[in-house]
Formats: sequence, structure tokens, C-alpha cells
Amino acid sequence: PAKPIQIKVVLLGEAAVGKSSLVLRFVNDEFQENKEPTIGAAFLTQKVRLDDSVLKLDIWDTAGQERFHSLAPMYYRNAQAAVVVYDITRASSLDRAKSWIKELQRQANPDIVIALVGNKLDLASDSPSANSTSTPEVHDDAADTEEAPGDAGDENSESEGRSRQIATATASSYAQSAGLLFLEASAKTGEGVVETFTEIAKKLDLN
Ligand code: GTP
Ligand code: MG
Repeated sequence: PAKPIQIKVVLLGEAAVGKSSLVLRFVNDEFQENKEPTIGAAFLTQKVRLDDSVLKLDIWDTAGQERFHSLAPMYYRNAQAAVVVYDITRASSLDRAKSWIKELQRQANPDIVIALVGNKLDLASDSPSANSTSTPEVHDDAADTEEAPGDAGDENSESEGRSRQIATATASSYAQSAGLLFLEASAKTGEGVVETFTEIAKKLDLN
């Protein structure tokens, strides 16, 4: 008989990498092109079913903007799992992910299960979803004009790469050396999203 086990999960990562979008996909199976930045944190719940157990995930989706950094310990304290997200099209976001992981390894629960997730896989020209177009999309000229006036200075609207900048192997070998789960995902297409939370649940279930 399935007994629900309650698990606290925290999402961390640089602003605009898609933390809220991953949670929105996982919880509501939705995606919003222009998701607004999270202020403070958001709380959502979702269940994960394994073969003979059900885990209820209490998910804390934190704000990535640096001005909220000092709040993070409130959300990762007592967390059994963390999803640390980077954006495969933004090189800086993997460095930020690594510094979150160092902070978790120093300050969080020593048994915490950490998943490193490379989001926006749909923007990689080597992903199945992007392969439907035969040539990689080149947006460089359009990028400047697409930006609405008044967006300047917004942390989320700095020139995005829009193509892969972080190789899968680079992130995966780092994750392996640091003892983390590793997945690439797309909140937009849903690829890898349920898998992320299922892998975490499986690893927790063994504990
Ligand atoms: P903060 O709350 O500020 O920390 O940002 P966040 O990490 O929660 O990012 P958010 O989910 O708000 O997404 C930022 C932007 O990236 C939004 O415009 C999303 O639509 C977009 N986005 C998120 N995930 C994906 C994805 O998988 N693919 C693509 N193409 N865009 C995405
Ligand atoms: Mg957010």
C-alpha cells in the first residue's frame, strides 16, 4: 500500500534560467513565454509515484536575482533535495550553479540529494526538438530589435545566447565528480522535467 512521504525540495539557480518554468511544467503541465521573475520564493506541491511508494514534494521555488540571495538559507534549510538549474545557452549560469552547490555542500543537510539540471534544451541545435528545423536559428540581428523599449537594465533581458554554450559532457562530468544527479531538460517542451523529479524521488527512496 502506498504511503505518502513528504519531501522538501528547493530550486536554486541564476535569475531567468527557468526554475519557475520547470516547476510550472511539472505541477501544471504549462509553459509561459514571458514568465515574470520570482520575488522571494513560491511554494507548490506535486506528487511523484514510484513502484510502491508515493512521495509528496513540497517545492520551494526561490528567486534567482542576487538581491534575494540572503533569503536562500531559509529555503534550503532542512531540504532533503535540491534542484540546481542552469541555462545551457548561458555560460555564466553554470558557474552560478557550481557556487550554489558549494554553498549547499557547506551549509545544507549533509544527506541532501542534489540534481544539476541544464534547462532550455529546446534551444540546443543538437536537441531532438530543435532538429525539426534543418538549420540552426540565427537570431543575432533580431535580438536587439525584439527587446521591448524599457526592458533595458532588466536582469532577465541581457543578451541571451539562444544556442548551446555549455556542452553536455562539461556539465555531466562536473556533476559526476561532485556526486550529483544530472539531467538536461526543457520547461518549454517538457523534456526531462518529470524525469528530474522522479530521479530525485528514486534516490531519496533508497535512503
Ligand atoms: P527568477 O525567478 O528570476 O530566478 O527566474 P527563473 O529561473 O524562475 O526563470 P523563469 O522560469 O521565470 O524563466 C525565465 C525566462 O526563460 C522566461 O521568459 C521563460 O519563458 C524562459 N524559459 C524558461 N524555461 C525555458 C525553456 O525550457 N526553454 C525556453 N526556450 N525558454 C524558457
Ligand atoms: Mg522564478
